[in-house]
Amino acid sequence: MAREQWDNRTAFILAAIGSAIGLGNIWRFPFVCYQNGGGAFLIAYIVALLTTGIPLLIIEFGLGHKMEGASPLAFSKINKKLEWFGWIPVLIGFMIVTYYSVIMAYCTKYGIASITQAYAQNPSDFFFKETLGITSGPFKFGGFTKQFIWLTIALLVSWVWIVFSVWKGAKTVSKVVYFTVFIPWLLLIVFVVRGMTLPGAMDGLTYYLAPTFSKLLDPQVWLAAYTQIFFSLSVGFGVMIAYSSFLPRKTDLINNAFIIGFADALTAFVGGLAVFGALGYHAHSLGTTVDKLGDIAGPGLAFVTYPSIISNLPFAPLFGVLFFLMLLTLAIDSAFSIVEGLTASIIDKWKVSHFKANLTVSSTAFIIGLVFCTGAGLYWLDILDHFMNYLALGVSVLCCCIFVGWGYGADKIKEYANSISEFGVGKWWEISIKYFTPILLVILIGSEFIRRAKGSYENYGRLPESLGGWLIIILIVIAGYFLYKSKGKD
Ligand code: PHE
Repeated sequence: MAREQWDNRTAFILAAIGSAIGLGNIWRFPFVCYQNGGGAFLIAYIVALLTTGIPLLIIEFGLGHKMEGASPLAFSKINKKLEWFGWIPVLIGFMIVTYYSVIMAYCTKYGIASITQAYAQNPSDFFFKETLGITSGPFKFGGFTKQFIWLTIALLVSWVWIVFSVWKGAKTVSKVVYFTVFIPWLLLIVFVVRGMTLPGAMDGLTYYLAPTFSKLLDPQVWLAAYTQIFFSLSVGFGVMIAYSSFLPRKTDLINNAFIIGFADALTAFVGGLAVFGALGYHAHSLGTTVDKLGDIAGPGLAFVTYPSIISNLPFAPLFGVLFFLMLLTLAIDSAFSIVEGLTASIIDKWKVSHFKANLTVSSTAFIIGLVFCTGAGLYWLDILDHFMNYLALGVSVLCCCIFVGWGYGADKIKEYANSISEFGVGKWWEISIKYFTPILLVILIGSEFIRRAKGSYENYGRLPESLGGWLIIILIVIAGYFLYKSKGKD
């Protein structure tokens, strides 16, 4: 069976950019940035991009392209036993897409609610009560409420959309990404212009951009910058390995990695302009200052703060619909890239049809996602998100550095990537993969272990944390082993 291929180089670049650019750029980046020293964080972020982000993109591109396989197959070509570790990133991605698609469901609900401005009265109640029907704790699921049914339908819509976007794999994705990359960018420009011309916008922008240089001495700022880079570039989830395996033999890897890395960072930066302009306006209309806006972080930013800002604008319904359409189109190509990473892995091993693999992955993810549609859903979503991004992802990237960088040889990947690229990378790249990134990851993982030893995440308690965090990590490792051991088709 001939390997599927992208239509052309642009299609690949857009697909990879589409995967990288997502909700992480528009809500996570801005608040992490402002909590960590504004302009100073931007400096740390660019350093993180150059010292580990782009090097990791290059290793994933090199591996996928050279081995002509998605993550499990690529790892198994280094050494049969390593296939086990190849499954882990795609399974982490799978867990992420189970709730990422639920956030898309919120967007659908909000897009529709924008038409009547249903959230205008009380944005916070609209989110927590009307949309989520949130209960008092993780074990109170709340039963078949109207909120549950609503979110389930919206989740189904997310999945139908995802399934069709990857219908015939790279062939379909090649076409779809023109829409899912350019539409959100156009809308983003609309929001930047709108955000920056609102009264008070300048205060918001000053808050966002003015560097507090002393913050660069705070290790926490650097940790935040590095964690944000991994999630934002979609490295460590097997997505980029699968995507590069669909490239033709004659191609470019290194230049592509730089283009994708910078496009992602630029989008985050520009997204921040829109968000902070609007926050400045928000503070202005409340008669306060941006630093006193309180809890704008986390899910609140997109689903409480922003709706309340939108409802105060002229043409609120229009801006509301456009804003949530932007979030949806930003999220969709990230979501389907994860699905494609796992689907391609399954096809590599069992040679099943794309249709079958896609449907199995998507329907399983939909069923798991139902948990997040319940009244306790947000608690579980929050726990899972934290454990996947702060621990599982770190371990997955560390495995890549050790097994590929040390085991297989960073020098071999480097030579390979250099030989087919417009320009090559030097010794610095090997140093990043073999020393710098792994040491950094050990620090990241270690500091997370220390924090968890001190107390449960967000004080949810040990039991929810064990079930929604630790147990899932253990299950991923076990599932990886079984997938590796099960007999494939040659
Ligand atoms: N990079 C995406 C974002 O910024 C999220 C994502 C994670 C996509 C993992 C693919 C894989 O939102």
